[in-house]
Amino acid sequence: MNKKLEFQKLTDAEMRTAAKNFYTKMKTRRTVRDFSDRPVPPEVIRNALLCAGTAPSGANMQPWHFAVTTDSKIKTKIKAAAEEEEKIFYEKRASDEWLAALNPLGTNQHKPFLETAPVLIGVFLKKFTFTQNGERLKNYYPYESVGIACGLLISALHLSGLATLTHTPSPMAFLNKAFARPKTERPYLLLVVGYPKNNCEVPTIDKRSFNEIVSVVGEQTENFF
Ligand SMILES: Cc1cc2nc3c(=O)[nH]c(=O)nc-3n(C[C@H](O)[C@H](O)[C@H](O)COP(=O)(O)O)c2cc1C
Repeated sequence: MNKKLEFQKLTDAEMRTAAKNFYTKMKTRRTVRDFSDRPVPPEVIRNALLCAGTAPSGANMQPWHFAVTTDSKIKTKIKAAAEEEEKIFYEKRASDEWLAALNPLGTNQHKPFLETAPVLIGVFLKKFTFTQNGERLKNYYPYESVGIACGLLISALHLSGLATLTHTPSPMAFLNKAFARPKTERPYLLLVVGYPKNNCEVPTIDKRSFNEIVSVVGEQTENFF
């Protein structure tokens, strides 16, 4: 069964303005590692999660679960477990090449933000969907789908005035226990959410130029942009 698409038609001028405004807002997003402990309105988190849930997904299987906590006891446990894994990562597991890539960011095994930030969202990837009668259905392109949902989530939080840190303590198996999620779900990333601390600093980094990340092929490539 189909239904009529609700599509907001814009004029060319409106489209140009909308695209420019969106980019202008999105380019101010930065990963924050120094959070204030100021609580955030739950409704803002809820709407950002609803936004994430609108993401496209392979065969519409929606292979994601978002586990939210503001509980200080849980956050303390997550911090301890993450720091344990990250200590091994920085001291043993990471290759020299990886450490060199991380060097400009100034990251290390200490993760105080996991306790300070008001909200942690554990994102879990579901390789399978279990129906009510116990049937196991395969989810298609779960990695791509969850990545897109996380992109929407990060964008929604940013546009709502909150900062995020995409954290991937490696390995992340401890997140299943911390967030009470079944082993059938794979921890995908840990999103740290809140306000930046006053005078928060971020690493000076560059984004690749347009020409580096985009190519145009086929006819009419000259002056396409
Ligand atoms: C999949 C992924 C994993 C990341 N893992 C970590 C992490 O574990 N710790 C961290 O401090 N930053 C992490 N980051 C943040 C990146 O370092 C950051 O996005 C990058 O340096 C670009 O900076 P920006 O987000 O401010 O543009 C991760 C980002 C992504 C997309």
